Amino acid sequence: MKKIIQNGTIVTAADTYSADILIENERIIAIGENLDAQGAEKIDAKGCYVFPGGIDPHTHLEMPFGGTVSKDDFETGTIAAAFGGTTTVIDFCLTNKGEPLQNAIDVWHKKSKDKAVIDYSFHLMISELNEDVLNQLPTIMDKEGITSFKVFMAYKNVFQADDETLFRTLVMAKEQGGLVMVHAENGDVIDYLVKEALEKGQTDPIYHALTRPPEVEGEATGRAAQLTGLSNSQLYVVHVSCAEAVYKIAEARNKGYEVWGETCPQYLMLDQSYLEKPDFEGAKYVWSPPLREKWNQDVLWNALKNGQLQTLGSDQCSFDFKGQKDLGKGDFSKIPNGGPMIEDRVSILFSEGVKKGRISLNQFVDITSTRIAKLFGLFPKKGTITVGADADIVIFDPNVERTISVKSHHMAVDYNAFEGMKVTGEPVSVLSRGEFVIRDKKFVGKPGTGNYLKRARYNQLLDSVDEKLTI
Ligand code: URP
Ligand code: ZN
Ligand code: ZN
Ligand code: ZN
Repeated sequence: MKKIIQNGTIVTAADTYSADILIENERIIAIGENLDAQGAEKIDAKGCYVFPGGIDPHTHLEMPFGGTVSKDDFETGTIAAAFGGTTTVIDFCLTNKGEPLQNAIDVWHKKSKDKAVIDYSFHLMISELNEDVLNQLPTIMDKEGITSFKVFMAYKNVFQADDETLFRTLVMAKEQGGLVMVHAENGDVIDYLVKEALEKGQTDPIYHALTRPPEVEGEATGRAAQLTGLSNSQLYVVHVSCAEAVYKIAEARNKGYEVWGETCPQYLMLDQSYLEKPDFEGAKYVWSPPLREKWNQDVLWNALKNGQLQTLGSDQCSFDFKGQKDLGKGDFSKIPNGGPMIEDRVSILFSEGVKKGRISLNQFVDITSTRIAKLFGLFPKKGTITVGADADIVIFDPNVERTISVKSHHMAVDYNAFEGMKVTGEPVSVLSRGEFVIRDKKFVGKPGTGNYLKRARYNQLLDSVDEKLTI
């Protein structure tokens, strides 16, 4: 059945205007005034903004990590994402050295297939890059539509890859049309600092931050950027937390290197002092990279405003405080790294960014959706409101005031890192390919309705009417 969204204000990365949107067969088929709405279900968006659905480029759903598994899976995680105005997630598929890449991808397909309520895709972790892996990659890119590759420069003896692997991945990406993503922290130096702290009996959560200082993030970011310049390749730095890393990205971009940067809501809003909360509560705020001294937040906001950073990811990787985070009681290095962020990503940027005048409304759409679709080969099927695009749409009330709380969130964990924070603006209804997932703030979707998305290669458009790219 056709649907028509009426009386709203459409906002894209480029424009803000009043028009109606006609939807049929999962897609937007017309935008304008006085559209023929015969037989269409009418949806009133009066007083609301109409945004393209958010795209979260950075999630870890049901991921084995730190001796446990992240709590939100593809069902609870995507339901929470939808409540927050996100209609696509790109999750990180972990690989094991020596194992065929396809096996790892199949594990991720199995986790997600019957669970996701919105569309989803995968990035692929690269832990080694020998001839065998190199031979597998073109098929993976064609068959699975996986065109972004993640290299960890930290987590020694777990995920960390060496510089040779990073450099080979950059060269491969240049040749094949991939985007290389890095977790940029110097894992060897961190390993030394962590051992030294533990030997001195420094075991509290705050030492997580003190053993991963901004210099180790800045150094790794600069190294990855230089290797990108050397290989004439393209790089996306995930979860940028501090000024040191922003400056390295800006320096590389000034040289003309294709280096992109993502930050996360936690780095914009929370600071290192949270790790000092008593009764081990600091463990709730353990991310890698860690939360920084508060002054870094201004640098991150300015970087989003002036385009030195381009995207906002959630880095959703949630663990219960009781039963998971407490694995690190008495040893901060055993606290599972990560937090629940998938639901509040869009709202935080709207409330703290747009409402407080730090970024424009159109920048907000670019940072949470459009730019991500372009970088990761989903544009223009996803990431904008245009004729032919998937009808992934958020009807957003910009004036409602509410308080973020574990009592009302939809993530599966026992705390919210923004507990008690007042925000302005909230998604009212959310459509995924023309069907309501959230309707009048209630979940009406169904697990398994989310499609796996194959993505185009770097700098190539995903033709919105090219069916062969959809499985
Ligand atoms: O602390 C974090 N960021 N946990 C998730 C894994 C990662 O490094 O992105
Ligand atoms: Zn597949
Ligand atoms: Zn990371
Ligand atoms: Zn992450």
